[in-house]
Amino acid sequence: MTKLNTVFICTNCDAQYPKWVGRCSECGKFGTVASEPTMISKNKPQTLTSAAIAASTVSLAQVNGFKNVARFSSGLPEVNRVVGGGFAEASVILLTGAPGVGKSTLVLALAEKCGWPVLYASGEESAEQVQGRVARLGLNGQNLHFTPSTDVHAVIQSARNLQPKLLVIDSLQTMQTDDIQGGVGSPSQIRTVLAELVNLAKTSALAVLVIGHVTKEGIAAGPKTIEHLVDVVLSLEGVEHQPLRFLRANKNRFGPTDEVGVFQMTENGLIEVDNPSALFLNERHSGPGSGVTALIEGSRSLLIEVQALVTRTSSLNYPKRATTGFDANRLQVLLAVLNERARINLGYKDVYINLAGGFRSREPALDLAVCLAVASANFKKVIPSSAVVLGEIGLGGEIRPVVAIDKRLQEAARLGFKQAVVPKLPDKIKLPQGIDIVEVRNITEAVEWL
Ligand SMILES: Nc1ncnc2c1ncn2[C@@H]1O[C@H](COP(=O)(O)OP(=O)(O)OP(=O)(O)O)[C@@H](O)[C@H]1O
Ligand SMILES: [Mg+2]
Ligand SMILES: [Zn+2]
Repeated sequence: MTKLNTVFICTNCDAQYPKWVGRCSECGKFGTVASEPTMISKNKPQTLTSAAIAASTVSLAQVNGFKNVARFSSGLPEVNRVVGGGFAEASVILLTGAPGVGKSTLVLALAEKCGWPVLYASGEESAEQVQGRVARLGLNGQNLHFTPSTDVHAVIQSARNLQPKLLVIDSLQTMQTDDIQGGVGSPSQIRTVLAELVNLAKTSALAVLVIGHVTKEGIAAGPKTIEHLVDVVLSLEGVEHQPLRFLRANKNRFGPTDEVGVFQMTENGLIEVDNPSALFLNERHSGPGSGVTALIEGSRSLLIEVQALVTRTSSLNYPKRATTGFDANRLQVLLAVLNERARINLGYKDVYINLAGGFRSREPALDLAVCLAVASANFKKVIPSSAVVLGEIGLGGEIRPVVAIDKRLQEAARLGFKQAVVPKLPDKIKLPQGIDIVEVRNITEAVEWL
């Protein structure tokens, strides 16, 4: 007799227990924990695996087409940039983003622009609502086939009949299957639905774009395993009440993960931004505490404004340090360096850092811009509006080189900047015309320049 190894799993949140419990301590729900026998022990004697039939193998040298994944254009160059030149056939893409950020708007636009038949399955909106949106966005909807079905088998059958290039699921959490227990949107449902969609993609040439909700922490909602099941994870980000939206790949089996696509939300939908630097600098303020730096995001350079605010901490309170778009821990380190190496003491002051436009970045080149913006705000001394500053800062206060400095300087020159404060440049470097270079070795020299 084999002993049945049983685990108890919460159908709502996937938490596991060795014993049955009435209330799940992870999600707090009652009556959701049920037994799930583990596969190995079910009716199966514990034998050696040598009796099993071997899986077939193939020498990878004989496999063609690994290098050149078949792709098709999404219809939007900014989306193509992020996924690596178009959607791969037979792939599954998960698109996540906060409620209302513009996920449905984005997929409708690319469904139209890609020029291929697209099947759009939405459990979130009716045909009339989708049609209303299509009309509002000024699209014609000709290639767009809509189904309100939320039964994943029915949708998959429609996809097999219609043979679209792209299947859009809006959203994963509204799809269901009666193969398995658990309410709509429960982890077991989500996992099973996604597995069915992955199977569809791998057994046909179509790409499946699945929209997924995110939790408050900004990660894909549902079982933690869903990001492993898909080929690409895209996230659409933006700050509330700001028009800019950023599309990034957090995972990509077929391309890069460091590109960012920039869009602007308008009443006509999401518009691609082809000159993001100019847009970022559009509403730049010219007083103290503002500095411009040149970042590298994937294959291009973007200019971005760093804003700093320094105020005296009200008595009795701890000094505040708050950031938007920039790593708060990194700010702490930079303030310590300013204190130790440049004798700028901010111990009794609040410091706020903001990257303009709702942009988020952890690029090392931001260091110098953040430090100089803080110094500028502290001393009420303006950084010249025609200057860009960039460099990584070490704990000794030294300014370290950054990658692709030529590309950054070119972007700065293109946008009319006249001066660049940079780390020591390599000898053989092609500098753009019309931009004065100020090399600084350490933070003290940089502050003196200011
Ligand atoms: N009738 C409208 N007029 C103008 N703008 C609108 C209109 N309806 C929606 N929008 C804009 O589109 C945004 C919502 O976009 P969308 O529905 O694509 O988001 P979503 O990410 O799919 O949201 P959800 O997670 O709720 O499905 C709104 O925040 C708003 O800015
Ligand atoms: Mg939506
Ligand atoms: Zn639970």
